[in-house]
This record gives sequence, structure tokens and C-alpha cells, in this order.
Amino acid sequence: MSSKIITYDELKAHSTKDNIYLLIHGKVYNVTKFLDEHPGGDEVILAEGAKDATEAFEDVGHSDEARALLPDLFVGDFEQGGELKVKASTRASSSTAVNTAVQQGSNLMYFAPLGLLGAYFAWRFYSSGSL
Ligand code: HEM
Repeated sequence: MSSKIITYDELKAHSTKDNIYLLIHGKVYNVTKFLDEHPGGDEVILAEGAKDATEAFEDVGHSDEARALLPDLFVGDFEQGGELKVKASTRASSSTAVNTAVQQGSNLMYFAPLGLLGAYFAWRFYSSGSL
């Protein structure tokens, strides 16, 4: 069984109140008719059009009942690698400087405990030597 493949352009073409697709976990859902019924309101869904809504959907911690609604809204699978393209385009908007800073930050997170450990042993060495 092969389902329809939805391209990024198709996803983008369906991002208005009258016709909206959501991309969640690599699958595309037509939520147009569901907009008015959504307990979380239509605004939040409209804000997730034309991009990967997986994180937003998961962050809310949707119930199993909410997940059970998905199959009925299913349109097709998102194009292979397409999800990455969406993510890459979001990433491109944040500057490289920020990314580098974040990377350096995580390096610090790694080395700070090691430095403290080294300092502790140095302190032990010197204080035991002076006793
Ligand atoms: C097809 C996709 C979606 C379905 C079927 C869906 C369904 C539901 C359902 C049934 C609830 C009631 C609570 C629950 O059962 O978990 C709910 C709540 C909620 N949803 Fe969604 N949802 C979808 C997408 C989204 C997205 C993309 C967002 C985005 C940010 C979102 C935000 C929320 C929020 C904030 C609530 C909480 C409302 C409240 O408790 O006041 N939902 N959703």
C-alpha cells in the first residue's frame, strides 16, 4: 500500500484558514475541518502551517484521544528528506554566531566539571603535602 506523497510546496500551499495541512511526525494531515473543533483553538494550528508541527504538537502533551483523531485527517506521507528541508530552512534563519555560541556553551558544560575535579585533586595534593 503506497500513500500519497506530499511535497514541501504542497504543504506550503495549504497554510490558510480555508485550507490547512499540518506536518506531524513525517505525516501530513488536513486539519481544515478540524480547526473549529480544536480544543486548543485555531490560532495555534494556523501558526504551525507550512512547517514541521511535530514539536508544537508534542509539547502540548496531546492525549491518546487527540492522537486517535489523526488517522481520519491523514492525507499522505511527507516527501523523503522533506522534513529535514523544513528544519534546515528554519535553522538557516538563526545566525551561525548563535549556533557557535551554543556549541561553545555545551563544550563548557562538558569541561567545567572536569576542571572542578582537577582543582579538587590539586587542592588535596597541596593540602596533604603541607600537613
Ligand atoms: C491534527 C492535529 C491536532 C489534533 C487532532 C489536536 C487535538 C486536540 C485535542 C483533542 C485536545 C484536547 C486535549 C487532549 O485531548 O489532549 C487538544 C488540546 C490542545 N491542543 Fe491540539 N490538536 C492538534 C494540533 C495541535 C497543534 C499543532 C497545537 C499547537 C501548538 C495544538 C495545541 C493545543 C493546545 C494548546 C491544547 C490545550 C487546550 C486547553 O487545554 O485549553 N494542537 N488538541
